[in-house]
Amino acid sequence: MQVFSGTAILYIFTRNWTIMVIMITGASRGIGASLAQAMTAAGHTVLMVSRNRSRLEKVMEQCNKSAGSTLAHSIPFDLNDLADLEQEFVSRVKGISGTLDVLVNNAGQLISKPFKDTKVGEARALFDANFFAPALLTRICLPLMEQSELKHVVNITSMAGFQGAAKFSGLSYYSASKAALGSLTECLAEELKEEGFKVNALAIGSVQTEMLAQAFPGLKAPLEPAQMAEYMRWFVLEGCRYFNGKVLPVSLSTP
Ligand SMILES: NC(=O)c1ccc[n+]([C@@H]2O[C@H](COP(=O)([O-])OP(=O)(O)OC[C@H]3O[C@@H](n4cnc5c(N)ncnc54)[C@H](OP(=O)(O)O)[C@@H]3O)[C@@H](O)[C@H]2O)c1
Repeated sequence: MQVFSGTAILYIFTRNWTIMVIMITGASRGIGASLAQAMTAAGHTVLMVSRNRSRLEKVMEQCNKSAGSTLAHSIPFDLNDLADLEQEFVSRVKGISGTLDVLVNNAGQLISKPFKDTKVGEARALFDANFFAPALLTRICLPLMEQSELKHVVNITSMAGFQGAAKFSGLSYYSASKAALGSLTECLAEELKEEGFKVNALAIGSVQTEMLAQAFPGLKAPLEPAQMAEYMRWFVLEGCRYFNGKVLPVSLSTP
């Protein structure tokens, strides 16, 4: 039989019962919605961001019903509205919580189109969603995370943007935007390390979501969103104790 000392029991108890405040973008469906469900089921407070108010609120209600408490909060917002992020978005966040422990930059968009046919405006909008919005959101969330024990920023990138991994026609701008977010992850980890922040990225492989169906119609992914969210739940809360500035592949298959 395993015997624990009083200190060990106190440590385990404290670690398991610390309630964290986690912002998850792209929480109205797919991986982000499943992560919000996993986090609230574990008793954490979640600030859920996405554009589609009704879908977001439906997920929020499901989270709160399962948790038996108001742990999920919705912030309907278009993260591509970069100009409104610093004022309007921040004040809406502060209306719910003055502090944050973790930011998960999960929201993303995809263009599946030949490079030669892609207009520069489409590519810019994609980079706004997949690169500039997470970058700016990170900057404005840092002050809210200053008092946190975790101070973890997790960027969700993709194997499509992971150097050396298989690449696919039609996904050039998507892959490049995710590679840029991966590079930003490494740079920010270095720049912010003295202040105690940890910045990591998960370069994920195929998960059965609407985005995957858009990129690869008919493909059956080996993982459901809830399965990926189970791993992410651990990583978001514990990964910063082992990693900083890493872009980690989390992938069974590509695509
Ligand atoms: N599924 C995969 O196989 C796979 C593989 C590699 C990487 N990824 C990455 O994993 C992340 C989640 O992907 P997913 O498969 O769950 O995608 P998804 O089902 O398409 O969900 C994307 C989420 O992002 C939100 N979103 C998109 N643009 C937004 C904006 N401008 N402002 C706010 N929210 C926005 C969407 O909500 P609204 O429409 O309500 O705004 C939605 O909640 C993405 O970053 C994706 O690139 C996925």
